[in-house]
Amino acid sequence: MKYILNSREMKQCDSRTIEHYGLPSMVLMERAALSVVSFLHERDLWQKKIVILCGSGNNGGDGLAIARLLYLEGGQVSVFLVGDFSKASPENMAQQKICRQYGMELSSSTDTLADAQVIVDALFGIGLSRELGGDYPALLQEVNAMDAYRLAVDIPSGVSADDGQIMGQAFLADATITFAFAKVGQMLYPGKKYCGELIVSAIGIESCSLADQVLPCKSLEKEDLKQLPQASPDDHKGSRGKVLVIAGSEDMAGAAYLASKSALTSGAGMVKVYTPRCNRDIILTRFPEAILVTYDKWNEKQLLEELAWADAIAIGPGLGKSNLAENLVRTTLENAAVPMVVDADALGILAEHLQWLKKPHTETVITPHLGEMARLMGSPLMYVTDHKLSIAQDFARDYQVICALKDAATIVSVPYATTYINASGCSGMATAGSGDVLTGVIAGLIAQGLRPEDAASLGVYLHGLAGEEAARTEANLCMQAGDIIKGIKTIYQKE
Ligand code: ACO
Repeated sequence: MKYILNSREMKQCDSRTIEHYGLPSMVLMERAALSVVSFLHERDLWQKKIVILCGSGNNGGDGLAIARLLYLEGGQVSVFLVGDFSKASPENMAQQKICRQYGMELSSSTDTLADAQVIVDALFGIGLSRELGGDYPALLQEVNAMDAYRLAVDIPSGVSADDGQIMGQAFLADATITFAFAKVGQMLYPGKKYCGELIVSAIGIESCSLADQVLPCKSLEKEDLKQLPQASPDDHKGSRGKVLVIAGSEDMAGAAYLASKSALTSGAGMVKVYTPRCNRDIILTRFPEAILVTYDKWNEKQLLEELAWADAIAIGPGLGKSNLAENLVRTTLENAAVPMVVDADALGILAEHLQWLKKPHTETVITPHLGEMARLMGSPLMYVTDHKLSIAQDFARDYQVICALKDAATIVSVPYATTYINASGCSGMATAGSGDVLTGVIAGLIAQGLRPEDAASLGVYLHGLAGEEAARTEANLCMQAGDIIKGIKTIYQKE
């Protein structure tokens, strides 16, 4: 598990390292610069014609230090100073002075860019605080169009470190070297796309500098798969957890199949599918391991019995929006005594009856995609897309649910606790049924005893890795949800 910081948290970390631990800011800058220079060596780029765009803040200070190190090694490096240097930061002024004392020329002319083979962006780091105006957008457009390798220092200029939004225009990097911790804006789209390859470099800012901070975001890593449930020699199917999947409607058997199959594949001992009678043959033929309970009309008593059987409940995939589906969602929310995963059509129904979520309910994970979230909030999709991190956090807190807001980088927010930003997955997962698989995985993990918040964060991570696994044998464009289920098996085999 690693920390993902926003700009405020990173600034606190910087100043605590400098003021409390006593590491001078110039030492941090030198280490940041050294790490960029060694990257240029590793990638055989240091002898190319390198132009460094330097702003007037400390990101520009990093850029000036990089330029000086390359210059002193005999590199063909030019510095292009961009902005108002009458207000340059003290560290930036100190770096300029050092450069000049070594006889370096610092230019303010766009001519510097001519024939550049490598462009290093040190205009703005985490200090970017507003939309880029003036000459910046045109300059960034120009360098983005150049046939050169583009490397960003800390974060591409124009990307908000807090949410990955583009502040007018941004540097489109082939790689970004960030310092100490990854930043939120590097993990969320569109910022993630602008970073290219992301390298986190240690420069002497340690996690102890986070000591008095409130809940930074986190991201799971391979070693976190150790939290996955382990099979035990004395297991029996009952001890491995029972999942009730309330899913499917006429013509929508597939969603019920995918959610229940993935719950069993993720390790649950028994899966029961509660679905309309018309889906009986197809589910039993495709998935004979499932227990099937079917209905052809609303039967509250039957549903209550099934709810009482389960260790975890998944509700929503392919459920439709009929009165019957509405009854299923309301009765489940009101009566479930075990954790629930609420997805797809169940979320569409909840969007019309949000008051149901305000009532006391058992621990609940909701898994909306951005469109479903927009409907839940009654907000335009664009608003949700632009504010996804805060929206996931606010919704989780306001409705006391674990909110897994599905996107290319899914956000899992736990009320008054950690927010996870997922880094696994691939574009092939943008396919019908992929979300049904996730619902089944999370419910399967809960049934095996994981806390719902751990099942949600780990389930999202596992689901993404399973997609990556599927992409080894399937082209991204051809991947289907069933391939992700096969990928889950491969991940479990490796663990
Ligand atoms: N248009 C024009 N100017 C802008 C805009 C904009 N849209 N947005 C912000 N600015 C200005 C700000 O006003 C700010 O100037 P101010 O501080 O006078 O208000 C300046 O740009 C900030 O620029 P940055 O270089 O992004 O921010 P900062 O000076 O905070 O440095 C940092 C960021 C620490 C260098 C970080 O990105 C980084 O690379 N860290 C690496 C490690 C390092 O070098 N750490 C130690 C440095 S010393 C220290 O932190 C005190």
